[in-house]
Amino acid sequence: MTKQNILLGDTLEHLAKIPSNSINLIVADPPYNLGKNYGNNHDNQEFDEYLDFSRHWLKESVRVLKPTGTIYVFMGFRFISYLYGLLEQEMGLLFNSWIVWHYTQGMGKTKGFSPRHDDILMFTKSEKFTFNLDEVRVPQKYYRSRNNMRGANPGDVWEFSHVHYCHENRQAHPTQKPEGLIERMVLASSNIEDDVLDPFAGSGTTLRVCQQLGRNCLGIEINPEYVEMIHARLALPFDGFDSIDPRMERIPQNLTDPQVRDVYLSNHQQWFLKNHAPSSLSENSTNLPLYTQKSLDLS
Ligand SMILES: C[S@@+](CC[C@H](N)C(=O)[O-])C[C@H]1O[C@@H](n2cnc3c(N)ncnc32)[C@H](O)[C@@H]1O
Repeated sequence: MTKQNILLGDTLEHLAKIPSNSINLIVADPPYNLGKNYGNNHDNQEFDEYLDFSRHWLKESVRVLKPTGTIYVFMGFRFISYLYGLLEQEMGLLFNSWIVWHYTQGMGKTKGFSPRHDDILMFTKSEKFTFNLDEVRVPQKYYRSRNNMRGANPGDVWEFSHVHYCHENRQAHPTQKPEGLIERMVLASSNIEDDVLDPFAGSGTTLRVCQQLGRNCLGIEINPEYVEMIHARLALPFDGFDSIDPRMERIPQNLTDPQVRDVYLSNHQQWFLKNHAPSSLSENSTNLPLYTQKSLDLS
């Protein structure tokens, strides 16, 4: 059985006690220093103070990461370029991907373009690291015998909606991340029973995802109310992650042969939707347009 542990307190203090080279994957979603209210003043530091804080927790994170480990760091526009410099130049990590998390809702701007993405940097400690592409493929748009119907690489632009305030899994936390987004990182960059660390646990999204995916997870959170929230969240029954990349539900439009279609649909559920509540997939599938053989030949 895997373990989910949550530590209350300052991440710098707790990180210092974790043994070196012991963690397979770090998912770090620190305060972006944009003045969010996390029940303390930790998101409102002077520029240099915030960079020093970032340098400190990143250095400790790199120390605890196994040589084959991976770190994902979420960041907003104001500090992303500085974080990149710290990770590559000062920490000596290897760049892998600059992921854009695109969302459709958010604050509007009247002068300038309304922000609709956050950035996520993925770095590894060495050239030898876990990457389970088959676990995170997205369905192909069209059925073609030459296409890999197991799915395509999801790319580095990921669309996930924020967990809406009306959603039953919405926690009383201002920056709760969608579970589907963290699911992709955990599936791609760790294996069953690996050890995952979230140094800024918030509402506990990484812990919840790891609990359901059979990974151990250690979370650190400074706000005692959020720690209680995490304990409650981990005790809830599971009926699927709270969010999904819309591409995961798409079915190739030109599946005309009923036999191919049936096999594809049963695989689809298993390959792309196994950690998600039964979706509109079956509904969509019965409404699939039956294209003529002629349109199939276009492939
Ligand atoms: C961006 S939120 C994380 C959200 C989380 N990924 C989720 O899905 O809910 C950052 C969290 O870091 C916590 N935090 C801020 N400074 C901290 C510190 N020095 N040590 C531990 N936690 C801290 C905040 O209380 C906040 O809950």
